[in-house]
Amino acid sequence: MNAPENFPLFDLSDWSARQLAATEQALSRWVANPLDAPAPAGLGDAMRYAVLDGGKRLRPLLVMAACDAVNGTIATALRAACAVELIHAYSLVHDDMPCMDNDVLRRGKPTVHVQFGQAQALLAGDALQALAFELLTPESDDSVSAPTQARLCRLLAQAAGYQGMAGGQAIDLASVGLPLTSAQLHEMHRLKTGALLQASVMMGAACGTASPAALKALQTYGATVGLAFQVVDDILDVTADAATLGKTAGKDAAQDKPTFVSLMGLQDSRDYAQQLLAQALASLQNSGLENTHALQALADMLVNRQH
Ligand code: IPE
Ligand code: IPE
Ligand code: MG
Ligand code: MG
Ligand code: MG
Repeated sequence: MNAPENFPLFDLSDWSARQLAATEQALSRWVANPLDAPAPAGLGDAMRYAVLDGGKRLRPLLVMAACDAVNGTIATALRAACAVELIHAYSLVHDDMPCMDNDVLRRGKPTVHVQFGQAQALLAGDALQALAFELLTPESDDSVSAPTQARLCRLLAQAAGYQGMAGGQAIDLASVGLPLTSAQLHEMHRLKTGALLQASVMMGAACGTASPAALKALQTYGATVGLAFQVVDDILDVTADAATLGKTAGKDAAQDKPTFVSLMGLQDSRDYAQQLLAQALASLQNSGLENTHALQALADMLVNRQH
């Protein structure tokens, strides 16, 4: 990837490698760790299978990047990063189940229900969701003040629930075979995928202090990147193969899901994703924040990714 023009010295791969190492270590420690917090009846195995060893960790990276932008507390951001990833991982476990998208491949492995059975997959998702909020409310970690804990919980709960991911998933399932209008498709994508990505940015920002204008700019950045992300997911479903994606390709058309590609075609979808990238970068430039190197580079990576 090219370094953003204004920040030729920023090295995304070096920065990401450090954030990802910290995130992986924290997830392994906090998710049903068999040494100090084992889960009963094999549930911990299903939880760890769903979360560890896979995934691009884009949401944690956005949390850490937004924390950088507001010069926030990294230990708090690491909790937020893991919490968002747990909600995301749970959403994937349920999304893949036979009652939803009925997928057998995720993150290059058999899906959780294929590996552990449907009931265990359902419960693993439930438990990951609860664990996300437990991580945000530590009993003995002075780095996260009570008001910050409450704000992080609220941001995540709203993005995960009926006003966010779960609501968007309901629209997705209710829309099979229907030709949605552009406005309806935007609304579905905003909720099912955009909300959690935007929350990642705002949770990172909540780990420090920022002016109302900066927060508004970050909100716009998060919404724009969030929408672009699902537009690209729709594109890759058509253009990439399962080996590259680590999940089944071509399934949106096979399941007659309305997507940006089905609405506007492949080339217009690609152009639209690039327009959204430009908008996201412009909102950072208007934010008044100085240290937005990582947020800029991540927007570019999210939109121009190959998987
Ligand atoms: C896939 O998300 C599901 C959507 C919300 C579109 P990601 O592409 O971030 O999946 P992982 O986390 O890398 O597996
Ligand atoms: C899923 O969207 C969004 C979630 C909330 C999990 P998709 O159904 O398009 O995600 P993939 O393509 O299976 O990863
Ligand atoms: Mg789905
Ligand atoms: Mg799916
Ligand atoms: Mg998809």
